[in-house]
Amino acid sequence: MEKALNEQINAEMYSSYLYLSMSAYFADNNLNGFANWMRVQAQEELAHAMKFFDYINERGGRVELTSIEKPKKEWKNAIEVFQETLKHEQHVTSLINNLVNLAITEKDHATNSVLQWFVNEQVEEESNATTLLGEVKMTEGKGPGMFMIDRELKTRVFTPITPTQV
Ligand SMILES: [Fe+2]
Ligand SMILES: [Fe+2]
Repeated sequence: MEKALNEQINAEMYSSYLYLSMSAYFADNNLNGFANWMRVQAQEELAHAMKFFDYINERGGRVELTSIEKPKKEWKNAIEVFQETLKHEQHVTSLINNLVNLAITEKDHATNSVLQWFVNEQVEEESNATTLLGEVKMTEGKGPGMFMIDRELKTRVFTPITPTQV
């Protein structure tokens, strides 16, 4: 279980890296609202990694950090970015589900309880990615529609995970 949780720290750090790279891509394409949304997304993923980090320490385990894979740098357009975001979140959901399966097999109820927070978080993550993918598809990734979505995404702010959720 400890090894699998350590691997999940790496997966969350990679998610953060991927979204930070998407943020840089959007900033480079003058879509500062999209860049802001992805930057907040990267902060959230870092908070997920820290939640596993804290939990391993709390249980008297040993955190082991490993190298983070280099994320992709270029995308065709915003549609491709959100298609990839949705695909990535679906992949992370499968990783979380595998962790739950392991916790159940190991009869590790405390870990299972912590993982339930992530199960719910992934429902939200997939839903957000699906909504945004739908919106950018409506604009075909260009024109005044993109300008309007960009303005809306500028307002997203990072909300730290509150201690009661840890
Ligand atoms: Fe995450
Ligand atoms: Fe995520």
